[in-house]
Amino acid sequence: MRTPVVMGNWKLNGTKATVADLIKTFAGVANDAANVDVAICAPALYIGQVESLATGSKLKWGSEDCDVHTTGAFTGELSPSMLKNEFNCTYAIVGHSERRGYHAETNEVVAAKFKAAQDNGLVPVLCIGESEAEFDAGKTLDVCKAEIKAVIDLCGIDAFKNAIIAYEPIWAIGTGKTATPEIAQNTHKGIREFLKTFSAEVADGVRILYGGSCNAKTAPELFSQADIDGGLIGGASLKAPDFTAIIEAAKANA
Ligand code: 13P
Repeated sequence: MRTPVVMGNWKLNGTKATVADLIKTFAGVANDAANVDVAICAPALYIGQVESLATGSKLKWGSEDCDVHTTGAFTGELSPSMLKNEFNCTYAIVGHSERRGYHAETNEVVAAKFKAAQDNGLVPVLCIGESEAEFDAGKTLDVCKAEIKAVIDLCGIDAFKNAIIAYEPIWAIGTGKTATPEIAQNTHKGIREFLKTFSAEVADGVRILYGGSCNAKTAPELFSQADIDGGLIGGASLKAPDFTAIIEAAKANA
């Protein structure tokens, strides 16, 4: 049985005041969600504040990206070892489509970030997913497999024993066009079958989250699908009632 995960990705949003309000609320909600892993990935500037407020609760936290380097002359970068050792992050999102798109991160760069995160004790959350044109062309699984294969080539299949995959169709992110439970389940199942060609144990154990306009209304049916193990939540993770309702949906399927 895979423990569901509900993870917020705040992207470039928030203020010290909203961080304080939301983290206090989510720490309480996480404490009441015994069978669900709840986490927030926050803008780097707020991670220290999140750590102060969430320490001692069941709420975990992480970064929205990390660099491949841990220290040195890399101006502006985010060190995986600092995230882990100085700020007690549990997770690092890598390969979000906004990073791949706006920062030209290739599958190889994302795989290197995955490795750096894992080598430094963080749990990488590998984001994968196709564009609308690729969806229309029936290439969803080809894209997802290539994005995963780059990580397997660099890190080996066993790296997914301690990692999370988030399937986030680009056309569903921030658009209100949530993938139907059927589309999402088919893709998650295809991803798991692909992993099974390398290792049945890894395929059965890895948690695959859905992301893309997942909200209080759409989460219950999405989370009830056999291969969907929770969600990576953007906009709705900035609204306390909505994120709380999504955690409730995960609890119902735990
Ligand atoms: P939305 O939930 O705002 O569509 O964003 C999803 C996402 O990109 C999470 O990483």
